Amino acid sequence: MKPLPQATPDRGARSPRRAITALLGSCMLVAGQGIATLCMSVSQAYAQTPIVIQFSHVVTADTVKGRAALKFKELAEQRTNGRVRVEVYPNSQLYKDREELDALSLGAVQMLAPALSKLAGVGGSDFEAFDLPFLFPDHAAYRRVVDGAIGVELLLRLEPKGIKGLAYWDNGFKVFTANRPLLAVRDFRGLRIRVQASRTLLKQMQQLGAEPSISPLINVFEALRTGKLDGEENTPINVVSQRLHEVQSHLTVSNHGYLAYAVIVNKAFWDKLPADIRNTLEGALRDATAFENSIAEAENTRALERIKASGKLSIYTPSAQELAQWRTALDPVSLAAQSGIRPELVKAIQVATRVPP
Ligand code: LMR
Repeated sequence: MKPLPQATPDRGARSPRRAITALLGSCMLVAGQGIATLCMSVSQAYAQTPIVIQFSHVVTADTVKGRAALKFKELAEQRTNGRVRVEVYPNSQLYKDREELDALSLGAVQMLAPALSKLAGVGGSDFEAFDLPFLFPDHAAYRRVVDGAIGVELLLRLEPKGIKGLAYWDNGFKVFTANRPLLAVRDFRGLRIRVQASRTLLKQMQQLGAEPSISPLINVFEALRTGKLDGEENTPINVVSQRLHEVQSHLTVSNHGYLAYAVIVNKAFWDKLPADIRNTLEGALRDATAFENSIAEAENTRALERIKASGKLSIYTPSAQELAQWRTALDPVSLAAQSGIRPELVKAIQVATRVPP
């Protein structure tokens, strides 16, 4: 992990030092002709330095999130005529799961797109509502929730922590993978299963009789390969891009929960941007968001096909009757109560998704 530098929210994490170094360099070149008249002032050099946005994330560049981050970079740099430079750091190159949130709060990076599961630590337990199993009957139902009042209200809860939520990006429904078949609830007993840092996900696995283990995504491949973990849950995109299917023997298409992201920025940095730049960046993000959300579902279907075609593991799709048993074992209302998610929020989501309470 990179050491966390001091926050420099107004111009990006590294630009002031670069500006001063550049200025000193040009001063030394012209020293013989009189420093006072020929050197640019510090403020001039500073003004010419592009605003740097470091965008860190934990998945590979070819995932939907990775591609959307690059789309934002392309649009932001083009539309600001180079006044903004976006540096995208994929696959935990800069920071792992939890570290990146600390880095954002300190201003050491300016932009992230973490899974909602990881936001309860900063925005409160209600973010874990998205981890409740079988709460969203389909992708459209999940979108109705994030595009409506619930989505807006949740992002506002990040602001007291110095974080501004700008958009929701889709990934998709999760599957289970393991080193043994997961056909019924009893098959989870005693398995060590990796989950993201979420109380609800921990409880979900305990309710199935498994031993959950929270670990950063970047460590999961090795833990599965060496047998430290037996299984995990994730979207087909994340399974294939982290090559988890190469170190697992079975995959169950359970579609039991939805994995979604929030695009978030350091609020002090964002608020201090010149208004024209901020507006342009918001437009670039709107377009990158539309791109992300338009490809996620199809990319998950394609990822599952790639996993099937690899022939590396056997794939099981539970029947409606089997899924009903899983649903009973994983009652979302009782899980919500155990994780401190407000019952009113669960009800509101059920209404928005038109699942009877
Ligand atoms: C995970 O940790 O499994 C996911 O949150 C990774 C991601 O960003 O999709």
